[in-house]
Amino acid sequence: MAVQITGIGMNLPSKSMTNSDFEKILDTSDQWITERTGIKVRYFSDKDQAASDLAYPACLEAIEKAKISKDSIDLIIVATVTPDYLFPTTACILQNRLGLPPTPAFDLLAGCTGFIYAAEVARNFLESQRYKCILVVAVEELTKILDLQDRNTAVLFGDGAAAAIFQHIEGDTGILSSYISADGSKHQNLILPAGGSKNPASIESINNKMHYIKMDGKAVFRDAVSMMISSTKEALSRANLNKEDIDLFIPHQANIRIIQSITKYFEIEQSKVHITVDKYANISSATIPIALYDAMSCGKIKNGMKVLLTAFGAGFTYGAMVIEF
Ligand code: UT7
Repeated sequence: MAVQITGIGMNLPSKSMTNSDFEKILDTSDQWITERTGIKVRYFSDKDQAASDLAYPACLEAIEKAKISKDSIDLIIVATVTPDYLFPTTACILQNRLGLPPTPAFDLLAGCTGFIYAAEVARNFLESQRYKCILVVAVEELTKILDLQDRNTAVLFGDGAAAAIFQHIEGDTGILSSYISADGSKHQNLILPAGGSKNPASIESINNKMHYIKMDGKAVFRDAVSMMISSTKEALSRANLNKEDIDLFIPHQANIRIIQSITKYFEIEQSKVHITVDKYANISSATIPIALYDAMSCGKIKNGMKVLLTAFGAGFTYGAMVIEF
């Protein structure tokens, strides 16, 4: 018995923001953003649209695609760094909104590696036979924690949601291997400094813009490359596979140059790498499942294909997963 994603859904806000739109509000240019990041467009949620509002349609689509009754969901995990509230969890809000009977539900915070972390939890809960059908959601509204006057971060992130149903399947396809890890020694390099117990909200925290993403881009770039390379190696080794056995690589989509550094290291041909950073930018935990959805929608993933997901994010967290569809 194996564990597989049996249905996947996604949802984006209706408002998009191009690089040219940013040229009007920041000292930046389409040329700089395109050359240094590969990003062209990102999506902005509405002021009154919470993470759960963005996630809900993605959940319905995943349930429909998996051809299950929503009542068969026996666990909900929501990966996010931008929940509706610090508490209650967005998972509880979605459990209620979906009209489910009492069902365990929790949020998981692992930065941009959130979906791979949540998928690893789902896999292990399913393999333990305690659960049969798990809804994993990854949703972010990063534009709500962006300083739109800071060109170092404002142009890099966007909003979006994805949801996936994980179930047992017959046969030996599905998740072939997974690996998650973390190194907290450089946690200051990518951080939302205020709003937690370390720096509770205050006039000072607001005046100092401490409720916005702060990032040392160069330092993050270096670790993103090395940690996604090591995660990829570990996931391949755990599945007893070589890079040549993988039909499609889906790396975290923060910067096209990070992706190019990884694919150059492994000597992977471009046709085997799925890119979405140009059209969605970095959506933290939602990036990987949205890219997976995108690849499926383009017909790039066919039955029998092996797909490798790898991600890196705040923490630093990192991880990778090989799935045979
Ligand atoms: O999901 C995981 C988290 N995020 C990441 O993985 C992101 C990792 N880091 C990166 O993607 C890149 O480091 C950045 C895109 C953030 C920055 O690219 P970079 O090539 O490392 O640029 P830089 O920070 O070294 O900045 C080079 C120049 C600076 O100007 P000076 O000091 O040389 O005059 C910046 O002020 O580019 C300037 N700059 C910009 N110029 C125009 C920075 N942002 C912008 C901008 N438009 N938006």
